[in-house]
Amino acid sequence: MKAALIHSFGGIDKIEISEISTPLPKPHEVQIAIKYAGVNPVDWKIIEGLLKTRMDYQFPITLGWDLSGEVSAVGSEVTAFRIGDPIFAYCRKEIIHEGSYADYICLDADHVVSKPRTLNFAQASVIPLSSLTAWQALFKSANLQANESILIHAGAGGVGGYAIQLAKHTGAHVITTASEHNRDYVNMLGADEIIDYTKGDFVKKLHQTHPDGVDVVFDTVGGDTLLASYGAAKIGGRLVTIAGQFDPVHAAQRELSGEFFIVEPNGQQLQKISALLDSGKLSPPPVQEFPFTEVEEALRQSRNGHTQGKIALKI
Ligand SMILES: NC(=O)c1ccc[n+]([C@@H]2O[C@H](COP(=O)([O-])OP(=O)(O)OC[C@H]3O[C@@H](n4cnc5c(N)ncnc54)[C@H](OP(=O)(O)O)[C@@H]3O)[C@@H](O)[C@H]2O)c1
Repeated sequence: MKAALIHSFGGIDKIEISEISTPLPKPHEVQIAIKYAGVNPVDWKIIEGLLKTRMDYQFPITLGWDLSGEVSAVGSEVTAFRIGDPIFAYCRKEIIHEGSYADYICLDADHVVSKPRTLNFAQASVIPLSSLTAWQALFKSANLQANESILIHAGAGGVGGYAIQLAKHTGAHVITTASEHNRDYVNMLGADEIIDYTKGDFVKKLHQTHPDGVDVVFDTVGGDTLLASYGAAKIGGRLVTIAGQFDPVHAAQRELSGEFFIVEPNGQQLQKISALLDSGKLSPPPVQEFPFTEVEEALRQSRNGHTQGKIALKI
């Protein structure tokens, strides 16, 4: 089968499309014929070696953690799926080695979910990683409640778009950061207040409407944005980041709890997200498609940091 892989860390130009052997399913696994791979910032971060101290890996690494496709074989213990079933999945494994930028992958059947029936394969491929991240940040890490206020950074991004919608669905008041050209988009997703982060200090602007700060900050940007964000939370509030280290010293100044976390595969949560998509309570993001041969262009587009919605590779 063909796979887009790297043999060492470096730049996006290190990617090779090569022939490798097709994996066969273990008893509890399904083999998936991949139709689309969702592209995420983590893919170019892996290429650049930015996660090498956080995760175990083995070269060559086939890139990609998001996918949609059809079941092409089932392990002997799998009863939930049959050959030909349309599915989608977040496919990160314990050791970073296999990925979704490939013709086939084998996954634990518990991590695989039937494709939302209202979405096509391109739309479905970009859902799992971002939506599970937003779900786990809001409901597991931050334990967001109805009537609480939340600041969500980068509302126009892959994760931010789901976070806005899921927070609104919960009944929270949502403030998001986005630049002016994304105002209509994040408004359409349901944001109650929009702060243009390119025009001055977002914490000062937030304090004009929320003088005490917000109950929860969800940081998806890291760096200086994360550093300033401790000041945006209420005394005793929560701050969750997926893009930088949670600093207990800064947090202590405002008695904040919180954490950095890495999203886990979770079939039950993805099933709930799928139901919300099919019932129209959650909207899929806009998707920009690239052919497999343009994998480098797709990753460069992700790396520029200003994608609205998501990017998908047609395998
Ligand atoms: N720890 C985990 O498990 C986990 C999981 C998923 C993602 N992540 C990380 O989280 C980050 C976000 O991921 P993503 O998929 O949402 O990225 P993304 O889709 O590439 O985000 C792009 C968006 O970010 C916005 N943006 C850029 N700089 C901004 C800033 N300073 N303030 C506010 N918005 C800004 C852009 O909007 P404008 O054009 O308006 O600037 C753009 O719409 C990445 O670093 C990713 O690696 C971590």
